[in-house]
Amino acid sequence: MKIHPIINKIINVLRLKEINTTSLSNNANRLTLSSLGMSNHTGIYPHSNNRTLQAPAYEIIRFRNPVSALKPIHKSHFQQKTHKVKTIHIAIFGIGNVGGTLIDQVLASIVDIEEKKHIRLKIFAIANSSRLLLDKNGMDTDWHEKFNSEGRPYEVQNVVDFARFHHLDNLIAIDNTASAQFVQNYLQLVQQGFHLISSNKIGNTMSYDFYQELRHILKKHHRDYLYETNVGAGLPLIDTIKLLHLSGEKITAIKGVFSGSLSYLFNTYSISDRPFSSILTAAIDHGYTEPDPREDLSGNDVARKLLILARELDLKSELSEINILNLIPEAMRPLSTIEFMHHIEEVNFHFKKQKDELLPGEVLRYIGEITGDIQNGKSQLKTDLVKVSASSPLGQLSGSDSLFEIYTESYGTNPIIIRGAGAGAAVTARGVFGDILRIATK
Ligand SMILES: NC(=O)c1ccc[n+]([C@@H]2O[C@H](COP(=O)([O-])OP(=O)(O)OC[C@H]3O[C@@H](n4cnc5c(N)ncnc54)[C@H](OP(=O)(O)O)[C@@H]3O)[C@@H](O)[C@H]2O)c1
Repeated sequence: MKIHPIINKIINVLRLKEINTTSLSNNANRLTLSSLGMSNHTGIYPHSNNRTLQAPAYEIIRFRNPVSALKPIHKSHFQQKTHKVKTIHIAIFGIGNVGGTLIDQVLASIVDIEEKKHIRLKIFAIANSSRLLLDKNGMDTDWHEKFNSEGRPYEVQNVVDFARFHHLDNLIAIDNTASAQFVQNYLQLVQQGFHLISSNKIGNTMSYDFYQELRHILKKHHRDYLYETNVGAGLPLIDTIKLLHLSGEKITAIKGVFSGSLSYLFNTYSISDRPFSSILTAAIDHGYTEPDPREDLSGNDVARKLLILARELDLKSELSEINILNLIPEAMRPLSTIEFMHHIEEVNFHFKKQKDELLPGEVLRYIGEITGDIQNGKSQLKTDLVKVSASSPLGQLSGSDSLFEIYTESYGTNPIIIRGAGAGAAVTARGVFGDILRIATK
């Protein structure tokens, strides 16, 4: 078929736009343009109601001469889609509860985000502690099976090299592990062009020297590091504190129930006749606690979250400086997990004593608190089991919700309160997804 030079030009432009034109007929006064692979790679659909991926799509445009054909083609393919699509390349490390849920959430929203925000999200790498799967075109819904069959042993540098080899830009590395070892890769990733997002709290709770060095490298390489889910999972807490602090609003104290599992334990125990061990066993069975519940009862997780917030306020605190109330009876600390579970009833005496001391209308809450002269860098960070009025915001907490009270100079004695589900894979993954979009839309 002889193709008019102008039509040829159109085809070339379509190719440049990654529209895979597979056939063209130019007879009489009719141009038929067929294209295959209307996949998420093109982002351009000839008919707005035809979004079937990989389905043949075609368009018939009547024209008197080839020049007039330019207009309708241009209109239908380009003018409606004048926004340039920005592709974001994502590497996800950790594909457990949070990471796996995140992949599914991203894949379910890809088409919507591209349409509404003109941002194309491609997950080009997924990895657990031992294996890696790479695909420059982005993972699909069969990622789990593919990972199991095609995942290979790796080093983090393989991900960096792959991105470089395929000229991938707008790179984000996401840490959904709970690994201190993985955090050692942060500097290298930033130096090689990756923005960072983490649900893992360890990066922000290592020494203050590391905290500062990471921020220095981020600044030098113009990269972002977001970690909204480090405290309060998907709740908009860190961003709120950052904005208040940056805008000059003086934060005078932060107080709250930081842990979903400890929230559940004391919300339930305070109003129940059951012994603490029975509530603890139920919490373990529901998956509200870590497999060894002493990780929650030790107060260390709450302390890490306190430290992260304190550092947002420019406090140069260290984990070792926090006054942590460990709820595990001393004699039970050296036991193995199995031994602890066998003796779980021995925790009851410890907690019953505290409950017996409650006045009518009071409940127990395990809280974290930052107080002191925060503006002058002098603060106290502590975790504690306290009695509060059942009618106070903290006392009204139920289920496994978290609650944060932010006291500031302008708000006086009426704190800003942020409350909601502070744990769970779905809300945490959604929070990480929010961080991806924050970086992608910058
Ligand atoms: N779940 C929540 O409610 C919640 C809320 C806020 C924050 N977070 C944080 O989110 C993170 C993930 O939690 P999760 O519940 O998803 O944990 P998880 O189910 O145990 O998954 C952890 C994942 O990390 C991988 N991993 C471990 N070490 C690694 C390494 N060195 N390099 C690469 N991958 C590694 C694991 O791989 P293997 O299977 O090979 O070990 C696994 O895929 C944790 O830091 C947690 O504290 C969780």
